[in-house]
Amino acid sequence: MARKKIALIGGGQIGGVLAQLCALRELGDVVLFDIVEGLPQGKCLDIAEAAPVDGFDISLKGTGKYEDIAGADVVIVTAGLPRKPGMSRSDLIEVNSKIMTQVAEGIRQYASGAFVVVISNPLDAMVTLCQKITGIPYNRIVGQSGVLDSARFAAFIAWELGISVRDVSAITLGGHGDDMVPLVRYSCVNGIPVMELLERKYGNAAKAKEVMDAMVKRTRGAGGEVVALLKTGSAFYSPASASLAMVESVLKDQKRVLPACVHLDGEFGVKGYFLGVPAVLGAGGVEKIIEFRLNAEEQAMLDKSVAAVKGLVDSLQ
Ligand code: NAI
Ligand code: 2OP
Repeated sequence: MARKKIALIGGGQIGGVLAQLCALRELGDVVLFDIVEGLPQGKCLDIAEAAPVDGFDISLKGTGKYEDIAGADVVIVTAGLPRKPGMSRSDLIEVNSKIMTQVAEGIRQYASGAFVVVISNPLDAMVTLCQKITGIPYNRIVGQSGVLDSARFAAFIAWELGISVRDVSAITLGGHGDDMVPLVRYSCVNGIPVMELLERKYGNAAKAKEVMDAMVKRTRGAGGEVVALLKTGSAFYSPASASLAMVESVLKDQKRVLPACVHLDGEFGVKGYFLGVPAVLGAGGVEKIIEFRLNAEEQAMLDKSVAAVKGLVDSLQ
């Protein structure tokens, strides 16, 4: 079986980690594209020279030419500026829209058959713009938001309860912004509601709620927490891992149910916008969007997040 071809557009912090993870997991041959001459070539050479140590058999090519991404099975876009302390993701819209316009032209010309994952911020607007320019069908393009936001929520729950992250299931919905919706009612430890475990730990419901509220707040601000520590950029290890969970599910037809930023056509009451919701990801790309009941409070939070996404996306026009 021929190896898959994975094109990474943007060879910065996330792009470099993506290239290394693709190699270590042997997901496919990697083409790393960047406009900075020497950067993608240098990173690819560096990773490739670790192959005899790590024992992977894939090729890595750094490039500044779009024709090198021709025929890619998967394209992951990280091109664009990251946040600095004090900036919100939406502060990046003007500069990153210009970058995304160039990138999307390249994808449209050379890799329009690929499954595309957009990571660049502001995420919900950038995936919308990328789809519009490339014309990639809605089932072949997603944005990375929910896998990482949910992983952060799950990590905080596991740390709070002193248990393995592997046994925590937690999900966030909505936009990749400060109004994202971590779903407390659906978070559980092997099926046991997290709220019940917190109530038992603290012996009263009020304290349990206070602890959960703090974890929800931390989840919403988790990207900014990393930015404030790094000072020179934003998270890059976890966004790379998160996007590869989606890519792996598609390449291996795993049909995982992952929260992804997908185009909605009436699901959750939203039509014509990309938004983070659970979806089945397999060989057919976005094979199904999973809808489920929200209570009035959850719906109100989602409505607020949708309004923020619409405001951002509509400002692109
Ligand atoms: P970075 O600055 O390290 O890398 C970005 C790369 O894009 C640079 O190497 C730059 O040369 C390249 N670039 C700039 N203009 C380009 C163009 N026209 N064509 C191709 N490449 C171009 O940034 P980092 O940390 O890798 O983050 C990338 C993006 O991902 C940022 O917009 C950041 O906000 C976003 N992000 C999204 C997350 C998510 O979960 N969706 C999480 C973390 C970051
Ligand atoms: C993050 O969530 C900044 O979107 C980036 O880390």
